[in-house]
Amino acid sequence: MIVGNDVVDLTDARVPGKASDERFLERIFTEEERVAIGAAHDPDLELWQSWAAKETAYKAVSKLRGSPPTFAHHTFVVSWSQPNERNDATKLRAGSVQFESTIIGVEATWDRQTVYVVGWVGDITPEARDDRLNSRLARLDEPGATWSAPRTELEARLTPRELEAVHSGASLAVRIGARAAIAEALAIDGHRVEIVCAPGKPGRRPPAVWLDGEPAPVDVSLSHDGDWIAWAFALQRAHT
Ligand SMILES: CC(C)(COP(=O)(O)OP(=O)(O)OC[C@H]1O[C@@H](n2cnc3c(N)ncnc32)[C@H](O)[C@@H]1OP(=O)(O)O)[C@@H](O)C(=O)NCCC(=O)NCCS
Repeated sequence: MIVGNDVVDLTDARVPGKASDERFLERIFTEEERVAIGAAHDPDLELWQSWAAKETAYKAVSKLRGSPPTFAHHTFVVSWSQPNERNDATKLRAGSVQFESTIIGVEATWDRQTVYVVGWVGDITPEARDDRLNSRLARLDEPGATWSAPRTELEARLTPRELEAVHSGASLAVRIGARAAIAEALAIDGHRVEIVCAPGKPGRRPPAVWLDGEPAPVDVSLSHDGDWIAWAFALQRAHT
């Protein structure tokens, strides 16, 4: 199973009102998506959910193909089910994104501060997916979190080939958090896990998980925006 994820910080000044930016809408969304945005109770929320779904799908497709395709947002076509509510204040919505012949399943959660989408590609039952797919959305400044330490201290925890892809505090923090979560899921020491990127432009490099210096049967996706970091990973075999 290949995964993607994307967080949007809704408190960013560039977020509100984007649903009335016609040029942006035309560039990013299909006609059907634009109709759905226009008809939505909260057009900006609908827009950012679909945006995050496209970015999630793009990240998954990049890894599926072995190298990132050119990202034309309107070629990633989003279909949502109706919103449905959980018992708490967080909402949940399922859907899919189609890119050429590939279908990426997606699930969005949101509140007043964030929209968060997780996606997956792979012929898998919902039960097996729940078993293998882990994701977490967290504040960059979460008190007591493993990534909430001075930058030099965090940098010392990564290997040179991991650090080489780091280009910001959030880029560093998300790797610390994801690496610790993967190690915990595998019930192994965190030092054995690395998140390594192939050469490329900063911020445009799909991450891969290594275990004891070799590619591992775990797929990972990272995201960071404003005050938030997020990761998703899938164990290629159920881990018991
Ligand atoms: C993938 C992409 C959409 C993510 O950008 P973003 O939403 O601003 O950033 P996010 O924080 O959500 O995600 C960044 C993380 O995604 C991962 N990532 C980057 N590119 C990726 C890709 N192609 N596939 C999978 N994961 C990718 C990295 O882990 C990155 O973390 P890092 O910046 O700490 O290394 C961005 O890299 C992009 O726009 N690429 C396409 C460029 C392109 O083709 N342009 C053509 C039109 S001009």
